Amino acid sequence: MIQSGKCKVLVIMGSVRAKRHCPTLAAWIAKIGQAETDLTFELVDLTAWSLPMDDEPDIPATGLYLHPHTRKWGEKIAQADAFVFVSPQYNWGYPAVLKNAIDHCYHEWRGKPLLIVTYGGHGGGKCAAQLKQVAEGLKMRLVSIMPGLTLTREMIDGAPITPDMDFKEQRPQIQQGCSELAEMVSTS
Ligand SMILES: Cc1cc2nc3c(=O)[nH]c(=O)nc-3n(C[C@H](O)[C@H](O)[C@H](O)COP(=O)(O)O)c2cc1C
Repeated sequence: MIQSGKCKVLVIMGSVRAKRHCPTLAAWIAKIGQAETDLTFELVDLTAWSLPMDDEPDIPATGLYLHPHTRKWGEKIAQADAFVFVSPQYNWGYPAVLKNAIDHCYHEWRGKPLLIVTYGGHGGGKCAAQLKQVAEGLKMRLVSIMPGLTLTREMIDGAPITPDMDFKEQRPQIQQGCSELAEMVSTS
């Protein structure tokens, strides 16, 4: 086990859809991370954060936040040591709610380690590539692998997911991703 102290990792869920799979997958990833490292993994559900679409008058890079919700979100991100984005692929991209949450701050992300985990009918590779580009723009430090979880037709249509069973083969990749994240935190 990698010793990284009690550093905090926010596992940010990319979906706010009513019948979403995201909480199940994010909780599974957080559980693996918790077992694999000594980092503290905390789930972040964007439905609990009222972040109206691009509602700040100044650009986030100035750090001038008018609204209390932006200041609160900025503090939440600033206090974290690393992140996991758990995101579905929507129309070859990632959900707007995730981009809006990312774009509500700027310096708070900079230099921090990030693991990207995506899912979709083909693992969400196109979504992962887009998130990678955005993270590079923010000068985040990316884990070398971006695990992708392939959903079956039934899962996409709403069948429940049991990650321990359904994504057993992907578990080593998630473990590797979390371990790398912990290594990056320990060298921050
Ligand atoms: C608006 C929308 C667009 C989608 N586009 C894609 C896509 O481009 N590729 C894909 O593999 N799956 C796509 N899907 C299927 C999603 O991967 C699947 O519904 C997944 O469960 C969505 O994550 P969520 O349940 O956490 O919201 C799309 C689903 C939605 C709701």
